[in-house]
Amino acid sequence: MKIAVTGKGGVGKTTVAAILARLYSHQGDFVLAVDADPDANLASAIGFSELEISKIQPLSSLSSFIEERTGARPGAGGGFFKINPRVDDVVDRFGIQFENIRLISIGKPKPGGTGCYCPENVFIKSLVTHLILKKDEMLIVDMEAGIEHLGRGTAKAVDALLIVVEPGKRSLQTAKEIRKLALDLGILRVFLVANKLHHTQDEDFFRKNLSDFEIIGFLPFDKALIEADTNGQAPFPTCRRVIQEIEKIKHFLDTNSQMSEDK
Ligand SMILES: Nc1ncnc2c1ncn2[C@@H]1O[C@H](COP(=O)(O)OP(=O)(O)O)[C@@H](O)[C@H]1O
Ligand SMILES: [Mg+2]
Repeated sequence: MKIAVTGKGGVGKTTVAAILARLYSHQGDFVLAVDADPDANLASAIGFSELEISKIQPLSSLSSFIEERTGARPGAGGGFFKINPRVDDVVDRFGIQFENIRLISIGKPKPGGTGCYCPENVFIKSLVTHLILKKDEMLIVDMEAGIEHLGRGTAKAVDALLIVVEPGKRSLQTAKEIRKLALDLGILRVFLVANKLHHTQDEDFFRKNLSDFEIIGFLPFDKALIEADTNGQAPFPTCRRVIQEIEKIKHFLDTNSQMSEDK
């Protein structure tokens, strides 16, 4: 199954992605976790040790490696480069391991943004495409408030695009924009996860304002998450209230992807 998590900054994408990764790892699945947010913190949210985290080499910073694979030096404008560089060994070479989770970090896009057609972006996009199209592997991608890393060729292979929202109109606006982009790309399974709920009335707020979305989870605002974050601890396994609700999301995804496989 291939899951991508997106939404406005601060809504809880990394928290959701990290807990999902731990739940799948816990049941014995091999999980590939991709941190595609330039403000990278998926590794610590999953529970990687400081030592492992210090070993992370963000892929976009590997200038020599990208040059070796694409035939062009990142940052050097113009010239020709391979548009389908070899990427099949990247996870083994640059990933860090915790339990059944292997994690790679994409790092910061170069000036010009992720839309620019330059060696590093072609390299990253080739890698993401390769990982999404690879069968029989659990993939969880923690993204920023956009879906630039997904391309037309990979859209249909995304089993679930989870858009996380929180109470308040701002994150809803982002969710609507993301969904539009997703539909343009042909991503059909777009689901909403409502996070940081204070009261049950908050559920009505989401149902009313996002009536045309499929909401697959309502996660409570949980002080335990703030405490865990303050103490530099991962939310799994202590933040039970949120984990319990994410287990339901996992169950939905498992059932849903089963259905799509049967088709
Ligand atoms: N349900 C929740 N209850 C309380 N705090 C939360 C909840 N979900 C996320 N947070 C906190 O909000 C902050 C942002 O969460 P994070 O997952 O890093 O968001 P994002 O990846 O979308 O920027 C973190 O401090 C996190 O602990
Ligand atoms: Mg994040």
